[in-house]
Amino acid sequence: MNRWTEGSVPGQQGRTVVITGGNTGLGFEAARVLAQAGAAIVLACRDPARGAAAAARIRVTAPGARVDLVHLDLASLASVREAADQLRASYPVIDLLINNAGGVNPRYQRTEDGFERTLATNHLGPFALTGLVLDRLLPVPGSRVVTVSSIGHRRGVINFDDLQAEQGYRFQPAYFQSKLANLLFTCELQARLAAAGAATIAVAAHPGNARTEFGRDMSRAARIAMSPRLSALTWWLMQSPRVGALATVRAATDPDTRGGDYYGPPGRAQFTGYPVRVESSARSHDTAVARRLWQESERLTGVTYPIGAVQPSGG
Ligand SMILES: NC(=O)c1ccc[n+]([C@@H]2O[C@H](COP(=O)([O-])OP(=O)(O)OC[C@H]3O[C@@H](n4cnc5c(N)ncnc54)[C@H](OP(=O)(O)O)[C@@H]3O)[C@@H](O)[C@H]2O)c1
Repeated sequence: MNRWTEGSVPGQQGRTVVITGGNTGLGFEAARVLAQAGAAIVLACRDPARGAAAAARIRVTAPGARVDLVHLDLASLASVREAADQLRASYPVIDLLINNAGGVNPRYQRTEDGFERTLATNHLGPFALTGLVLDRLLPVPGSRVVTVSSIGHRRGVINFDDLQAEQGYRFQPAYFQSKLANLLFTCELQARLAAAGAATIAVAAHPGNARTEFGRDMSRAARIAMSPRLSALTWWLMQSPRVGALATVRAATDPDTRGGDYYGPPGRAQFTGYPVRVESSARSHDTAVARRLWQESERLTGVTYPIGAVQPSGG
């Protein structure tokens, strides 16, 4: 079977890509590859200095590429609204929105909006951002919303009784819940886009395990496991961000992609390797949970989408 590599990426000339957290790790690598393929890139980042440094690095590897910056803190609805306003004002057309940014919080933290920080950053922020800019994608043939999930979604449960972990916080269930939410969001968004006859599709990807800055706030053991210096020992478990990011890039650009597709490394474990179409858990396809999470996300963020709910069939 042919590997899907950077060389497989079709030309992206004339396309505008907004990528959250494009300043480091998987987001940076995806942005770099897309810029090299000819796309205009908008890095939506929370730290302007890190964003500017990343933009400069991308311009070196993709001479002549347009790389813009927008300030975005996904853990703040005010910031998400400001970023969406700026994106709407600057880009009449968006071809790709890549919801890549994410994090894990070892300790419970509440955002200024009163949300648990992991859920805010990884799900509610991206939910709000997508809803606020979706009308810039809807008329664009071939446009896509790509959301980055994780193998960990398989262990996720949406705890509607305590979505914000107010009754007790453990970082792993919080992270796994947020990554399951990414896939339920993709599932419901795709259903709504298809029902509306939109040109846009919703797809998802996961990188396996990649050596990025992701472990920066986690235990020393987790940071050591992610260190590139140990790659000779952890090659079977972890891969480079370059290869990890290809799942995102494939979801964003493979012409054979259909709405709802999910890409990640191959094999049973899906830890490492070049991206293929993979299956997500049965729970991530639970349409009743997806619908309920959507309604809850609209209520919490105050963002209503420009495409309506799917009418249940048979009624
Ligand atoms: N690495 C893995 O093994 C792995 C596995 C499964 C899934 N993932 C997923 O892959 C995605 C990218 O992670 P990564 O591995 O590339 O990690 P990373 O190197 O830590 O990069 C995360 C990016 O998200 C940004 N970010 C975090 N919180 C944000 C916020 N509140 N607002 C805006 N941006 C924010 C970070 O910005 P700063 O640079 O300013 O901190 C950074 O740009 C995440 O969704 C993660 O869940 C990663």
